[in-house]
Amino acid sequence: MNEQAIREYLGSINSKFDFEIFDVIDSTNTYAKKTALSSELKKVIIADKQTNGRGRMGRTFYSPEDNGIYMSVVLDADKDFNDSTLLTVATATVVCNAIETVTGLNCEIKWVNDIFVNKLKVCGILAEGILDAKTGKVSKVVIGIGINIKSVENFPEELNGIAGALNIDCNMRECLIAEILKGINQFDGLTGLEEYLSLYREKSMVLNKIVSFTRDGKNYKGKAIDINNLGNLVIELENKEVITVKSGEIRLVVTE
Ligand code: BTN
Repeated sequence: MNEQAIREYLGSINSKFDFEIFDVIDSTNTYAKKTALSSELKKVIIADKQTNGRGRMGRTFYSPEDNGIYMSVVLDADKDFNDSTLLTVATATVVCNAIETVTGLNCEIKWVNDIFVNKLKVCGILAEGILDAKTGKVSKVVIGIGINIKSVENFPEELNGIAGALNIDCNMRECLIAEILKGINQFDGLTGLEEYLSLYREKSMVLNKIVSFTRDGKNYKGKAIDINNLGNLVIELENKEVITVKSGEIRLVVTE
């Protein structure tokens, strides 16, 4: 990974970022959380490989060497910040735009944090807050982004038919990272993130589709009718009851 190349693609805003680049690390998010307070700038941690890449809901994010982008960005949170859903929405929108701009591919977003190309997941996002011990409030956030760049040829069998890759050369990583950082650079204070919702809704692969999900051990099925202004998914169940899903994972139901 070439820091200088990322800085050149960033142009004048490169001075806002402090990079730490590793060949191998357990998880860029874990490291970011441990070291978040060490810089006044927006800290960016990137690795060529992760040995313990983490996903949402305690899952692992497979992160083999020289095959993807594994990065975490640390940002200051406004004093009123208390929900990472809109941050995930904004980040997914920015990453989607960046991939489309740099590669010409068409991306779709699966609520809430996954980006798909050709119906396969190419990117996951994991946003985590860091609490200030004195105030008990979130003072910084870590946005973790994992993108499969080159191939999924040697991925574990259980990811067959689920994970995909952009299938581009690894030397495009620096350009893509810079394009993502240009977008994230607009998130100052983490306020006003509702602005990303309209594009997020446009790119959604679940809106107006039949979805299923599990809550308290019970399975539900219905139509995703809206993504509300908090970034939550609104679902009309088969019995016409309308419910709001704030977290967790939904599955797309294949209909003929
Ligand atoms: C998901 O798919 O549930 C989210 C995956 C997030 C993976 C990225 S890779 C960089 C950063 N470090 C981690 O350990 N996780 C995130």
